[in-house]
Amino acid sequence: MRPLRLAGSADVSSAQRRMALDCLRYLTFALCAQCGRDVRAPSGCCLAIPVLTLSEVLRDFDYGSIMEVLLADEFGFCFGVERAVEMVEDALEVGAPVRTLGPLIHNTQEMKRLEGEGVSTIEAPAEVGEDEIAVIRAHGVTPLVQIQLEQRAALVVDATCPFVTRVQRLAERAAKEGRHVVVAGSPDHPEMIGVVGYAPSNTFVVSDAGEVAKLPPLHAPLVVSQTTLKLQTFLEVAEAVRAKADAEPQVVNTICSATRDRQDAARALAGLVDVFYIIGGKHSSNSIKLLAVCKEQCERSFLIETDGEINPEDLAGVDRVGVTAGASTPNWLIDQVVTRLREIGNRKPN
Ligand code: F3S
Repeated sequence: MRPLRLAGSADVSSAQRRMALDCLRYLTFALCAQCGRDVRAPSGCCLAIPVLTLSEVLRDFDYGSIMEVLLADEFGFCFGVERAVEMVEDALEVGAPVRTLGPLIHNTQEMKRLEGEGVSTIEAPAEVGEDEIAVIRAHGVTPLVQIQLEQRAALVVDATCPFVTRVQRLAERAAKEGRHVVVAGSPDHPEMIGVVGYAPSNTFVVSDAGEVAKLPPLHAPLVVSQTTLKLQTFLEVAEAVRAKADAEPQVVNTICSATRDRQDAARALAGLVDVFYIIGGKHSSNSIKLLAVCKEQCERSFLIETDGEINPEDLAGVDRVGVTAGASTPNWLIDQVVTRLREIGNRKPN
């Protein structure tokens, strides 16, 4: 290790702190200029300066010169998306071309990375070749589409999120019992199209409680939800269905907590930081919602896709910066942003 010499200084305490920080940063140790002893020795040096432990140094240090980068408690890939990406990576090991029905993930950078590894997107089952691997993404598909893929592809990898599979199975079972199914969600969303395919004659998809009034009389209905819906909308739909049903409806809350968990974690951090970066696609609805949540308490919140969009001028004089990421943002993009922020924030003490 390279020893540092403590230069004679009236403000020994300040110099000592600075040196201890340098010790941390460069893995060196510090010697007193007077007695030659390590200034961090438990008994102190000849100047009888009370010696600080490194943790005390960091706690007491003027953080105006070092920017803290704080990550929200929940951020980035949700369970279903992470699982789908891992399944695609496993499929690549087989060595055949991998085709996902619809974009696997709403993140341009991650899609480019996967394309570089041999993954491409198709819009219909007819596009998959007999020597190719077809992937069903986390949103799921109808049983008919699944059969079409199985008839054409060499192999079908079903990456439907298990939380979506649960909704499909509930709808299928209720329909087999001759009951109606009301799903609260967006009728055009791929997840909803897939669920309807499991009970096409019995299922109604409604965006809100107002649409329930237009439905025919409902028999012993099951009420479920799109996994990403707001709880309030679901509860209102369930109440409206109750008024139209010939029996007490079976209400099953199938909302996934991933979106809410990320928003709650961002909300908890937003009041503690000066600047907040939300990493995610500019058109990703869950990232846009995260931005809105952060802005409630941290006006200087920015939605960025990559570290290249960080403007160091936005961080001048900033003590604490928060970071979160949408459910489609991969860890490698988050790591790049955090590394860049630490580079910018690692300002040396004056
Ligand atoms: Fe699944 Fe929830 Fe993600 S339903 S795909 S874990 S948002």
